[in-house]
Order: sequence, then C-alpha cells, then structure tokens
Amino acid sequence: MIILSVESSCDETAVALVEDGRKVLTDQIFSQVNLHKIYGGVVPEIASRSHTEVISILAERAIQEAGISRGDIDAVAVTYAPGLIGALLVGVNFAKSVAMSLNVPLIPVHHIRGHIAANYLAFPELEPPFLALAVSGGNSMIVDVRGYTDMSIVGATRDDAAGECFDKTARVLGLGYPGGKPIDDLSQGGDDTKYKLPLAHVDDNPYDMSFSGLKTAVINLAHQAQQKGEELDKPSLAASFCKAVSDSLVPRTIQAAKDLGHTKVVVAGGVAANSRIRRDFEAACAKEGLALYFPPLKLCGDNGAMIGAQGYYEFLAGNTTTMDLNAYANMTI
Ligand code: KG4
Repeated sequence: MIILSVESSCDETAVALVEDGRKVLTDQIFSQVNLHKIYGGVVPEIASRSHTEVISILAERAIQEAGISRGDIDAVAVTYAPGLIGALLVGVNFAKSVAMSLNVPLIPVHHIRGHIAANYLAFPELEPPFLALAVSGGNSMIVDVRGYTDMSIVGATRDDAAGECFDKTARVLGLGYPGGKPIDDLSQGGDDTKYKLPLAHVDDNPYDMSFSGLKTAVINLAHQAQQKGEELDKPSLAASFCKAVSDSLVPRTIQAAKDLGHTKVVVAGGVAANSRIRRDFEAACAKEGLALYFPPLKLCGDNGAMIGAQGYYEFLAGNTTTMDLNAYANMTI
C-alpha cells in the first residue's frame, strides 16, 4: 500500500511516499529555516504562506522521484494536530484535495505519533509495546505505546518544550535559530560541571518535566556576566545546559519504562538528535538492560515519511476520515 503523506505543522513542508508503513520511496522536505532565522523564531504567517507556495511542487517532485504514477497512490495521510493552526491548515486542505481527486482514503495523523513512527522506518523489527520519549520544538512527552494506535501520555512538560528551551538558550548565547544543533556543537569542547543549573522536580507526577526555570537560569547567568563585564565560558555553559536537559529527560524516561514494565525505549523528535542525550540514554539503557531505539538524524526532525509510517497503521486500525477534517493547534496523543 503506497501512502502519500503530508506534513506542514511548523516550519518544514514535507511530502513523502511510503510503502506499507516501513519503506520510504521518497521524502521531499523544504525547510523554512532561512525565512525565519532573522526573526529568531518561527513567524506563523510566513510559515503558512511558504507552505502554500511549495507544497504542490514537493508532491509533484515526490511522484517523479519515486517513479510512480498518481494512480499508484492508495491513500493520503496528513498531520492534522498539534501545531501552528495556519500551517496545519495548508497541509490538511492540500491532502483533502489530493485524496478527493484521486478518490482514495484520507488519514489524519497526530504529529507526535508521527515522530514516534519515524523509528518504524529505521528499525524494521521494532513493534509496540514500548515506552517513547518525544522531544521536539513544541512538545516534550513520555508516552506509553501499547499498540501502533493505542497510546497515552504518562508525563509531559508543564511549561516549555525541551527544544524551545534549546532555542531560547541559543538566542541568549548569540547562536542563532534553531539553536539545538549549535548548542550541541558548542558543548563538545566544554566542561559540563562548570555551571550549576537547576533541575526541576514536579511534585504530583514523577514523569512530568519543567524547563522554564532552566531557561531563566541561563538568561540570568548571561545578564549577570554582561553586567559585571565578565566573559562567559560558552562551551562550558552549553555543556552544562545539555547535561541539565539530559538529566531531566533520561532518568524520568528510564523510570517510566521500568515502572510500566517496558523492555524497549524509543526516542523521537528534533531534540533526539542531541549527542549528550543520545550518550546518556545509551549508558542508562545498557545499565538497565533496556533496548534503545533512536531514529537516524534525518528522521529526527519534521518529515513527511514519519506521517506515512504512522498513517499506514492508522489506516489498518480503520482511522480514516471525511472531507470535513479540520486542523487543531492542540490535541492529546
Ligand atoms: O521535531 P522538530 O524538527 O520540530 C518540531 O516538531 O518541533 O524539532 C525541532 C527542535 C528545535 O527546537 C531544535 O533546536 C531541536 O529540535 N534540535 C536539537 C538538535 N537538533 C535539533 N536540540 C538539541 N540538540 C540537537 N542536536
């Protein structure tokens, strides 16, 4: 079964063709980073406009590169939540028009389910149940994945997402947008014990997280250094920051996996590209005897293939929709 899949929830426009949920025939991605970086973050109106400009070009290119014809497309899958509402609507309306004109089923896909499903593309043997950590620019959550379409959130951030925290910290350090990779790169030469940064503890749910205090601590350090005319040791601050984020994410995820009786841990989303988080998960999972799955870097960020992967399993579960599909800025998994 060949699914044409569409992703436009934030600042990447992506159209992919995926066979049987596991084989990527093509994954066309247009990143809008250059359009937004002068503003230091994503400007929603610019994002929507850019999605509109490139989405049909990407679909055309996908069909050409995969060497298929339109008649080979069996269904259309699309991210319908969560994300920037105007951006989501571009993808949803495009997907509707393609599904309608080809007379094939339309499959709505939750963006975070898609991030988790990126791992099915990378690991043919991977099947639920497992414990997933999804960490991106807009979301940070620990998910109990009981089946391909049966999952629930067991812990989430109470404020900023981990990626948002990376991006805001990078801005303070003058590293540009998006900030995750530059902080990761800068941290390589740093001493992660040099700056003591706060680790938030959330009282009533041991799996919930909070990143706003960490972000504020870095902002305060930068301002104090500026006021005193002191030079910050930026590589060490970046390393201490990566350690703090990792210390928030890794032990909670491992604890949740153990508590829920999972033997597999799956990490997903743009922040899963972080080298410190990857290293710490590898060590923790090895110690606890848990199998660990990280998507390759190109499948960590937003892409269309992950929507096609999850879309296949949504289709098998009967989760198709009609032409009155709407987009939603927020929606639980
Ligand atoms: O999954 P994604 O592409 O978009 C959303 O769905 O939000 O994630 C983007 C986020 C950004 O905040 C970016 O700074 C972060 O992922 N990111 C990283 C790294 N690469 C990207 N964060 C930490 N370390 C990285 N190497």
